[in-house]
Amino acid sequence: MENWQDKVGRAILPEVEVSITSACSLRCSDCGFNIPQQPNPWPDGLPQLKKALAILEKLQIKIESIAVLGGEPTLSKHLAAWINLLASSEATNKIELVTNGLTPNLLDLEAIRNIDIISISNYKKEDSLIHLWMSWLQANFIDAEVRDRRHGHWDQNMQEVTLTEQEAKRVWTNCWYRKHCVTIERGRLFPCSRSAKFGPDSDGLELREDTVATEIQTHLLQTEPFASCRHCTPMAGLSPVIPAVQPDDRLPSLHAKALMFLRQQLPDQVG
Ligand SMILES: C[S@@+](CC[C@H](N)C(=O)[O-])C[C@H]1O[C@@H](n2cnc3c(N)ncnc32)[C@H](O)[C@@H]1O
Ligand code: SF4
Ligand code: SF4
Repeated sequence: MENWQDKVGRAILPEVEVSITSACSLRCSDCGFNIPQQPNPWPDGLPQLKKALAILEKLQIKIESIAVLGGEPTLSKHLAAWINLLASSEATNKIELVTNGLTPNLLDLEAIRNIDIISISNYKKEDSLIHLWMSWLQANFIDAEVRDRRHGHWDQNMQEVTLTEQEAKRVWTNCWYRKHCVTIERGRLFPCSRSAKFGPDSDGLELREDTVATEIQTHLLQTEPFASCRHCTPMAGLSPVIPAVQPDDRLPSLHAKALMFLRQQLPDQVG
């Protein structure tokens, strides 16, 4: 979150994340979004996000790219409504959907016509799921860019750590997440997704009718660490972990079902 202004001096938030559901089809150990214990990201639902976006619009603050995720966003019956709201807001530019790609059968294709980028977390690390997704979208005239996201490792997330003030200052200063994962949740702007899921509400700046732009800037670019940084497992320098480890065989099973569904939608493709 370093580039606060664009070339003509308008306030810009380069990358922001929004969770629209805490439901998920997987149970990844070390899930950075605290699934299945993630707090409800929007207890007052869509109107709460609408209000927050209206405040950003009024302040002429633009989110360059907003990532819609969860949990697993394709599980939300209201995905279309969330996307349409984001697409119609003057506060947002590009919209990205981040999905594990395993439940295309639940996805209302109309829901994703306003999406610019679909990032598929490819936990099985094989090509056919992505190729089939691409062909399926193409067959339905959806021209979103599809990104194949393969993780070599994940940061640990569930250990409990307590850092000294000095260590917290160091992790905050060097933090990768705060540059890419500013999070809008519960009507508040948090410096990262971790603070939104694990930290106190006070780490998020409440977007009120009388919030001014400099308050947002001061909040996100403050020099002192947040309360969450004192307990930041991902930035604590622990050894990395294997991504998306499950308690059972749900990953291969859902993967096989997704391939079968997509192949049925594309009878002419070998995939
Ligand atoms: C929390 S998931 C939500 C969207 C969707 N369920 C998925 O898995 O893509 C968003 C992204 O965070 C990544 N992620 C989750 N836990 C992580 C961790 N402990 N370290 C690094 N990345 C993580 C996932 O791989 C995914 O690309
Ligand atoms: S798929 Fe895994 S990483 Fe994504 S939200 Fe679900 S549990 Fe977390
Ligand atoms: S809690 Fe961790 S990830 Fe979030 S801003 Fe602080 S150091 Fe970065």
